[in-house]
Amino acid sequence: MGSPGQLREYGRDMLEFIEQLWGDLEQYPPVPKVEPGFLLERLPKEAPKEPQPWGDIMVDVKELFIPGVTQWHNPNFHAYVEAGTSAASVAGDLLANALAFPTFSWQSGPASTELEMRMMDWFGRMLNLPEEFLFSSDKNTGGGVIQESNTGALTLMVTTAKMRLLRQLRENNQDIKPHDVISKLVIFTSDQAHVSVQRVGIVTGIRVRSLETDEKGSLRGETLEKAIKQAGNEGLIPLLVFATSGTTSTCAFDNLQEIGEICQSESIWLHVDAAYAGSYCICPEFRPLIDGMQYVDSICIGPQKAMRIHLPYCGLWVRDRYAMERTFDDDPMYIKHNYQDKSVDFKNWSLYMTRPCRPLKMWFVLRLLGVEELQKHMRKQVCLAHEFEALVRGDDRFEIVADVVLGLVCFRMKGPDELTKRLLEAVNDQGKIFINFTEYKGRFIIRFPICSAAAESRHMTFAWSIIADAAAKVRASGR
Ligand SMILES: Cc1ncc(COP(=O)(O)O)c(C=O)c1O
Repeated sequence: MGSPGQLREYGRDMLEFIEQLWGDLEQYPPVPKVEPGFLLERLPKEAPKEPQPWGDIMVDVKELFIPGVTQWHNPNFHAYVEAGTSAASVAGDLLANALAFPTFSWQSGPASTELEMRMMDWFGRMLNLPEEFLFSSDKNTGGGVIQESNTGALTLMVTTAKMRLLRQLRENNQDIKPHDVISKLVIFTSDQAHVSVQRVGIVTGIRVRSLETDEKGSLRGETLEKAIKQAGNEGLIPLLVFATSGTTSTCAFDNLQEIGEICQSESIWLHVDAAYAGSYCICPEFRPLIDGMQYVDSICIGPQKAMRIHLPYCGLWVRDRYAMERTFDDDPMYIKHNYQDKSVDFKNWSLYMTRPCRPLKMWFVLRLLGVEELQKHMRKQVCLAHEFEALVRGDDRFEIVADVVLGLVCFRMKGPDELTKRLLEAVNDQGKIFINFTEYKGRFIIRFPICSAAAESRHMTFAWSIIADAAAKVRASGR
């Protein structure tokens, strides 16, 4: 474990350094000015044979590593998505890392298992999820589990839906050949869904059909209905609908009510990806964004974005936990225990068996910050997004391309895409702020998410001044 006092020495130096780093975020460029190979060139090719002094390592951390870090928490970083963290989250993980126990069954980690169950219930109640999704409810048929990633959670849900379907079909026909069924399965999603669904299609070998969204980027019931009919005509079997509440590109919302009714009547598994937007639903005013939960079989929500918890941490809730627990029909002798009937073994709620202890960081965050502080943080992010939106709308060289619902503003320069591309380049080349882009409905657009917990109004006006100046230059250059 280390000699007495060693951890304290490392911990003290490291925590002091982190505090300083968090205090000085704006001193660093949001994106480091480095080229590929910058660090490899300076690192020895082999591991040291003898122990090296702690002080030397801290020097290298500061001089070699940190200059190559993308500073997602710098309030001038406005790209991709918010990456949450907080002192509370770090403290929780410090303990988890020090305890360093793997868990697969209740027996291998009773405290971790039960804390995870309770945390997923706390979070589920904050989100006002239906009682079926909560362990501590009379209606409990499902529950929540912490997953490493949305993609992993979706792979698990697709596999669960597939195995459930095969079991149902076998009840009527014992001779059914799994391969014949699997080769006919189809997953429906929208043309705005995260690319992870395509990956899951590759992993599971199940075809994925991306359906056209309406002018707001939302998948509608009518479109799904037609696609299901078409699939039926081709002899295919709809397995799962992957709906999104808060798409990555523009934060659009599929119509869960319409889609849900169809999934229910057709017995299709409905999985919702609310990886980004879901956490915001702890604020009552945003909760309608996931209305339709009565139809949902599983939902993924990532508190590692707006909820001040650092990754990895992806919350997955399922309505029918028995379907999931039966998916991997394995129960090896070496992990059997006496309480299997009375407890939850999270190994059956995951693609892999051995899991780290993850609920401590949520426990610490929820207790040290409290729900109201988290709501305040989210409302502030949304408010800043609207402030920035107003700046864009106030300049007739620009247009907003999607409704600003949460902490993301999508905009472009009016005219050909080339202008927006050049604007993006001109802004990012300066290195003062960092913004990113996407393609939406055939157009090149800029995404401006409010990423940093430290962001304030002045960062919106600062970013806008850079963008507006760059726009003037782009237009003037007329290239
Ligand atoms: C809406 C949405 N879905 C899915 C994902 C993919 O998540 P993961 O990388 O955890 O698999 C992301 C990533 O940010 C996302 O924003």
